[in-house]
Amino acid sequence: MKSTPSKFGKTPHQPSLWTRADALKVHADDPTTTQPLVSANFPVLSDEVFIWDTMPLRDIDGNITSVDGWSVIFTLTADRHPNDPQYLDQNGNYDVIRDWNDRHGRAKMYYWFSRTGKDWKLGGRVMAEGVSPTVREWAGTPILLNEQGEVDLYYTAVTPGATIVKVRGRVVTTEHGVSLVSFEKVKPLFEADGKMYQTEAQNAFWGFRDPWPFRDPKDGKLYMLFEGNVAGERGSHKVGKAEIGDVPPGYEDVGNSRFQTACVGIAVARDEDGDDWEMLPPLLTAVGVNDQTERPHFVFQDGKYYLFTISHTFTYADGVTGPDGVYGFVADSLFGPYVPLNGSGLVLGNPSSQPFQTYSHCVMPNGLVTSFIDSVPTDDTGTQIRIGGTEAPTVGIKIKGQQTFVVAEYDYGYIPPMLDVTLK
Ligand code: FRU
Repeated sequence: MKSTPSKFGKTPHQPSLWTRADALKVHADDPTTTQPLVSANFPVLSDEVFIWDTMPLRDIDGNITSVDGWSVIFTLTADRHPNDPQYLDQNGNYDVIRDWNDRHGRAKMYYWFSRTGKDWKLGGRVMAEGVSPTVREWAGTPILLNEQGEVDLYYTAVTPGATIVKVRGRVVTTEHGVSLVSFEKVKPLFEADGKMYQTEAQNAFWGFRDPWPFRDPKDGKLYMLFEGNVAGERGSHKVGKAEIGDVPPGYEDVGNSRFQTACVGIAVARDEDGDDWEMLPPLLTAVGVNDQTERPHFVFQDGKYYLFTISHTFTYADGVTGPDGVYGFVADSLFGPYVPLNGSGLVLGNPSSQPFQTYSHCVMPNGLVTSFIDSVPTDDTGTQIRIGGTEAPTVGIKIKGQQTFVVAEYDYGYIPPMLDVTLK
């Protein structure tokens, strides 16, 4: 891969590769890496809105943070349309599946608050209509900056284009609840450059989104992870020996896997406020393996860098497959080399009997994994489903060296704080 020169002089690292050989080790239904079955009897957060990607308020080091005893989460959110003629089927019944599948086009950032780390109450929209420059407000990360309650919300402004942006506002608490105020000025940060990260012009199905800023516990600098695809015209990527890895005889054929080009991107801040960023070459690439490594995030534990990212069955390349869920990689230093956790990368996947039960997992530093319910079968054949659009039961995992284990299950949407900040 070519990369642009950085202000650090030579490129600081080579991307680590998630290879086809690694992915051949992915196995659905291993109980240590499979999310417990979600019952079709789940409660919903709201009959008015669907929610999916959930972004807990945290500090720049990754700790889930409450303010004055209030937990706060941000969610991608879209109205439900049970009475809209546009979403009625031929028999006049609400076509909830179509409504749900259309949600990405009208995604908006909402927030919720809670005293218990669950039983979330709807706060409302983070930005008023017209503040965000594009139609879609896609995933990102809210960071509590200080005891004055200032919050930087990094997110993705999508359609037209896809720009990593941030908006600064404030969290205000009373004994009755939480409001987010003054999220009024959105600042564009950067877009894909076509040299390291694929642009829309290079591939209409490009991905460039999901910022996750953090401070490196070792060098103390401000960085940001994001989802990307490796730069280059669609179809031009090479799946060579390095991308294939050490496969058994008979597994050399890569089919059309050159179309799958996901990567985990990284940028470094040139300033302490995180207003000025420089993209660096990807930390991890999945060329020939998978087309999406979404919502990348870290857990820093035992002096190691645990890099997590969510991915889908449908985005895997020819000849490799795995469940929808969260995958992980570990390194001793920020720039790698990263090796797949559990040999394969799979950390927590959906069971094959309920392949779409949950998605958009976020592994928190306390080992709790939050996700949302997508759809759960309501009959044995799996033809009838119930749409979620709500928080899934939280799962506990244990991270040990290069392995992870599912060890616990908690209540729906349980996201307890790891520390509390008293506002001044
Ligand atoms: C993950 C995701 C994110 C994106 C959002 C769009 O569920 O695909 O990558 O920001 O959902 O709705």
